[in-house]
Amino acid sequence: MAAQDPDFVPEGVDLEHPNPARIYDWFLGGTANWAIDREFGARAVAAFPGVRVLAKVGREFLGRGVQYLAEQGVNQFLDLGSGVPTVGNVHEIADEVNPGSRCVYVDIEPVAVAHSKVLLEREGDPKRHAVIQGDLRDPETIWRRALDTGVLDPSQPIGLIVVGVLYFVGPEDNPHAIIGHYRDLLPSGSYFLCSHLTVDDEPTEEGDRREEVRQQYRQHSTELHMRDRAEFTRFFDGWELVDPGVVWIPQWRPDLRPSPATREFAGNPSSSSGYAGLGRKP
Ligand SMILES: C[S@@+](CC[C@H](N)C(=O)[O-])C[C@H]1O[C@@H](n2cnc3c(N)ncnc32)[C@H](O)[C@@H]1O
Repeated sequence: MAAQDPDFVPEGVDLEHPNPARIYDWFLGGTANWAIDREFGARAVAAFPGVRVLAKVGREFLGRGVQYLAEQGVNQFLDLGSGVPTVGNVHEIADEVNPGSRCVYVDIEPVAVAHSKVLLEREGDPKRHAVIQGDLRDPETIWRRALDTGVLDPSQPIGLIVVGVLYFVGPEDNPHAIIGHYRDLLPSGSYFLCSHLTVDDEPTEEGDRREEVRQQYRQHSTELHMRDRAEFTRFFDGWELVDPGVVWIPQWRPDLRPSPATREFAGNPSSSSGYAGLGRKP
């Protein structure tokens, strides 16, 4: 269990810069992070204390989306930018509904991949679960490697999950074309579950604090590319939007499973600063 040893550093890990996967893990209360990530996280919390609960809101949406898909009979998932495993991983939630579900996790960050490997070695089934270190910006390679694991059946609908990830992809990489490419590769009846940060309707009294966090990411880690409602909605071109359509994250089927952080935003969903949506490939 090398990845559980607090001094273990997986190969290729950059400990010079705070990393988004490890910062997010720290926001969620995980332990797959190093001093540089925790220092960054603490500075972000000092600037904008709401940042941790926003991370939890994002994670709770992932759980609701997977549960919904599993209830529609989707039993295989490709989770891009899956992060460090933490409470409510995709295969766990899917298995609660359909035991025997399958999932391929993909992340660019070696720490997220190392921890996913440890979790799957301990609790997973190699015929049903796999993890790949890769860059989602290269759909052909990711798709080929995902199929090479033998976990996914390309003749059956797949749940493509890209939750809390696309704001790490800048316009120069044309993220809309990337999602369109995955859509073309997936079999019909597949789904695309997505959430994204925005500055739309940012609470005016907190705008400066939130901007300070974005500046910290820009200067010390990775730029966050905020997108407005129209840009987010465009990710669903060629997909049929499933009810309730494009909404603030806390408004996306909030009652599907316990979502305590999400509840805090019930009266003011736009202060979650995130959009959510689910599309189905016709
Ligand atoms: C905020 S976390 C979200 C984790 C998970 N999807 C969730 O919702 O809990 C974003 C993750 O995306 C990963 N990521 C960022 N850019 C990526 C890329 N180009 N390819 C694959 N993963 C990427 C990061 O390493 C990080 O683990």
